[in-house]
Amino acid sequence: MTAVAVLGSTGSIGTQALDVLRGHRDRYDVVALAAGRNTELLAVQAAEFGVPADRAICAADEPERLAELAALDDVDVVLNAVVGFAGLPATLGALRAGKRLALANKESLIAAGPVVAKAHSHGGGEIVPVDSEHSAIYQALRAGRPSEVARIVLTASGGPFRGRSRAELEHVTVADALAHPTWEMGAKITIDSSTLMNKGLEVIEAHELFGVAFDQVDVVVHPQSVVHGMVEFTDGATVAQLSMPDMRLPIALALGAPDRHPDPYGAIDWSALHTLTFELPDRDAFRCLDLAYAAGRAAGTAPAVLSAANEVAVEAFLARRIPWLGIADVVEEVLQSGGGAADTLDDVLDADRRARARAAAIIDRRTL
Ligand SMILES: NC(=O)c1ccc[n+]([C@@H]2O[C@H](COP(=O)([O-])OP(=O)(O)OC[C@H]3O[C@@H](n4cnc5c(N)ncnc54)[C@H](OP(=O)(O)O)[C@@H]3O)[C@@H](O)[C@H]2O)c1
Repeated sequence: MTAVAVLGSTGSIGTQALDVLRGHRDRYDVVALAAGRNTELLAVQAAEFGVPADRAICAADEPERLAELAALDDVDVVLNAVVGFAGLPATLGALRAGKRLALANKESLIAAGPVVAKAHSHGGGEIVPVDSEHSAIYQALRAGRPSEVARIVLTASGGPFRGRSRAELEHVTVADALAHPTWEMGAKITIDSSTLMNKGLEVIEAHELFGVAFDQVDVVVHPQSVVHGMVEFTDGATVAQLSMPDMRLPIALALGAPDRHPDPYGAIDWSALHTLTFELPDRDAFRCLDLAYAAGRAAGTAPAVLSAANEVAVEAFLARRIPWLGIADVVEEVLQSGGGAADTLDDVLDADRRARARAAAIIDRRTL
């Protein structure tokens, strides 16, 4: 029996994870749950899975409780499905305690890469990615040796604004940006998908997870979201993972890897699927992609600054305070203030705090 803590249980990934776990009570025992503020749904989940009240908590105002749950002695696997920087204590708590971390919360890895890497090596834990692209890479990497990897290719659906020019993006609305063509996800990642910041964050995530240089990570737009990621090997072979868009597949794999789940999530019906297309991203219209590459290459606290500024800018866009194009402008301006070393958790927390304050000031100035 594998004991699982589901952190961020009330969100899109959290509820899909509970769907997977609900079908396999013979293999998995849900022993802890955490949400942000949705007490009602959390109580329903706790009752269904028999999780005691002191292990089913709303952590929006007490993030250190996430680390405590992640490190509980009887937990084997921690699914971190909290959104944003708030997920960092859960990532660190799980790795320091030597747990398997099924990681959906990419922001913690991006903002605190070197600190997470230390917790990973000292605690002896394991990270298995939940992000569909990184799960695909994790699977494709089984086809060769690390020294044989030439390039990693992350696919992007292109989001709702694929094919639009910069001028056409000037007046897009929040509703337009939330209308993702292939995935149903939480609001923050849906907006990140519309700007391609999500893909940029994933480029940094791939660098952190798989130890590849930024020059070895490419992005290709693939609107059908069937090919989730590819690894090109030194002999020219490209190995890809394909499935219909269904996050339960990478969630189930992260929980049970290297074993595969008995249920087919998103198996392809080849009589219905006829066309897979690929194109290069439009880097002028979707500037967030290159901002993320630049922050990743700058290293240190630059990825933390990027991620924090983006979180604040996305919130401001969702609150209709800045236009969609303003998200990249705010992030770019915050990044110009530079970064520093990210050797300790304090470095990262400080960079995050400063970047948020700077982003908020820029947004205030723009909206006056
Ligand atoms: N959705 C996807 O398909 C998908 C795919 C790949 C990766 N991801 C990644 O997975 C993560 C979650 O995404 P999502 O789409 O599931 O987001 P979501 O639907 O917005 O859910 C976020 C979850 O985090 C909880 N939360 C928010 N702030 C918190 C805090 N301060 N402390 C504890 N919990 C908090 C929320 O609780 P309340 O609702 O109770 O406030 C909710 O359970 C993100 O990092 C995202 O990038 C998502």
